[in-house]
Amino acid sequence: MPQHASFTSYGQPEEVIQLIDTPSPALRGGEVRIKMLAAPVNPADINLIQGIYGIRPELPATAGLEGCGKVIESQSTDFHIGDKVIFTQRAGTWSDEVISSAAGVLKIPADTPSQQAAMLKVNPLTAWCMLTQLRKLPKGSWVIQNAANSGVGYCVIQIAQLLGLKTINLVRRDELIPELKKIGGDICLLDNTDYIDIIKDKQPELALNAVGGDSALRLMDALAPQGLHVTYGAMSRRSLKVPNKFLIFKRIQLHGFWVTQWIKENDPAIVCETYQKLAQWMIDQNLSQPIDSSFPLDHIHDAITRANQDKRAGKVIISMNE
Ligand SMILES: NC(=O)c1ccc[n+]([C@@H]2O[C@H](COP(=O)([O-])OP(=O)(O)OC[C@H]3O[C@@H](n4cnc5c(N)ncnc54)[C@H](OP(=O)(O)O)[C@@H]3O)[C@@H](O)[C@H]2O)c1
Repeated sequence: MPQHASFTSYGQPEEVIQLIDTPSPALRGGEVRIKMLAAPVNPADINLIQGIYGIRPELPATAGLEGCGKVIESQSTDFHIGDKVIFTQRAGTWSDEVISSAAGVLKIPADTPSQQAAMLKVNPLTAWCMLTQLRKLPKGSWVIQNAANSGVGYCVIQIAQLLGLKTINLVRRDELIPELKKIGGDICLLDNTDYIDIIKDKQPELALNAVGGDSALRLMDALAPQGLHVTYGAMSRRSLKVPNKFLIFKRIQLHGFWVTQWIKENDPAIVCETYQKLAQWMIDQNLSQPIDSSFPLDHIHDAITRANQDKRAGKVIISMNE
């Protein structure tokens, strides 16, 4: 019987996640059965299980917001056995097997690496949207970001390079800097007050904030007048307290971004086309996220424990069936 990492109450994932065996029901018209290949443990997965994410699913629920799998049975004319797919809707991907409506999955090229494809839905699209959909940036423009070694941060560096943009990348650990430079980060510095003077002449038009608190304020300081400051994550759990001067004299614009909303608000054909482009960049080895470690589904608690530790070397992946 397929196993699923499920929870019946909100709480700390290590405590509330349980592996359960569930019989596989027969497919209904328009549905596909997917054998899961891989799924990441993202900060959003942890927050969803804790009950502090932007959505609170009905319980019991299966965890896992994104992932990659192979169609093993299809009641939809759009999908065939063997198709490699990702999910465009929350599907409970921390499972051996997922049943989805055809509308909830998207076919991707078979040669997209499975572990990278498992992370295609969220971080690459988030990076691409923030670089292209919020402000028109001429080639050669500077973009600044904190948590530059995060999954999104890696995608921002690589996609910016593909788009002809330049990046200033801030991290909280010195040892990360050589690797970020290697993947194309133009300027890579520690996220402290010293960097403001160093990059003064760059005048970035766009700042991407995944941290909040003082780090987010430094990004406001670093921005060009009328620059756009986009908050998409809150890793420090600290609020933004915006000094009045940044709004009055510098006239910076504050914006939030949530990729789930972007997917909902945009034409599915555009969403699909964007994912195909991102998948092709993965195949061409122009776009990838670092992987710290991978665990089989029956070691889900070890996977969660590792994902909750800071200073990882990348994503924690749950690998199934491979
Ligand atoms: N709004 C959206 O649509 C959207 C989409 C995707 C992701 N996100 C959000 O973006 C953020 C990054 O996601 P991800 O998947 O890219 O993350 P990730 O790969 O798991 O990386 C986490 C990053 O956060 C840093 N970090 C952890 N704790 C921190 C703290 N207390 N203070 C400062 N930095 C800290 C880590 O630094 P170290 O390596 O030094 O520990 C690392 O750079 C998360 O908040 C996530 O929820 C939002």
